[in-house]
Amino acid sequence: MNQTLHPRPLRLGVNIDHVATIRNARGGDHPDPVRAAQIVASVGGDGITAHLREDRRHIRDEDLARIQQATNLPLNLEMAATREMLAIALRHKPHAACIVPEKREERTTEGGLDAAGLHNTLVPIVDELRGAGIRVSLFIEADERQLDTALRLGAPVVEFHTGEYAHAFLDGNRDKVEREVRRISDMAALAAKNGIEPHAGHGLTFENVQPIAAIPQIAELNIGHYLIGEAVFVGLENAIRRMRELMDEVR
Ligand code: PXP
Repeated sequence: MNQTLHPRPLRLGVNIDHVATIRNARGGDHPDPVRAAQIVASVGGDGITAHLREDRRHIRDEDLARIQQATNLPLNLEMAATREMLAIALRHKPHAACIVPEKREERTTEGGLDAAGLHNTLVPIVDELRGAGIRVSLFIEADERQLDTALRLGAPVVEFHTGEYAHAFLDGNRDKVEREVRRISDMAALAAKNGIEPHAGHGLTFENVQPIAAIPQIAELNIGHYLIGEAVFVGLENAIRRMRELMDEVR
């Protein structure tokens, strides 16, 4: 079957963390990430993604239940591989949990999880999440060694970190952009061949989303910072609709 002629649907998960970043800048309740989640649902977004960080710099504990109650959309909880986050995930039972690396001083999630290096830490966490019926995803670089670890851990999903790609795009480095697309595309094909569902995200924008969205095996993109930034100018509905259109154009 030629997959470019029979593309699979591509879901859009909207990361609403930075609505909470703006809220927290003033310490009050506005703007409320719950309202953002409702807007995502109303314009046909496929899921809500939220990262509860150790330092609670954006999403807070109480936001999780409020987000879950506010919409029927699946919640993808991004979490560090810690006992604290595991306990929170088991309490809230999101649809999915995406295990991400987390460094206190970083501005954002700066690279993929070293799943291979952290294998022994990840085994019980992945097992407990799976045991609770939570779909586990590992946020990794598009790298065969990391993918192999995801397979050994029994993770049903991997999310490829598209940060290197996004940087190369910003720098106008076309060779590197091509190399990155090929790397992600090759690993997406390998993941799918091994029964793992590949997702992708980080640094995706209207300008750079299409080459990643066009990779036929990729089933979901998780996009946050750019959409929330763009929403300041055109509204969240319009920003999501435009992203959806651009994704659909290449599938
Ligand atoms: N996917 C994961 C696992 C993330 O951690 C993040 C944000 O850090 C995103 C997607 C979204 O990235 P961005 O905000 O750059 O769109």
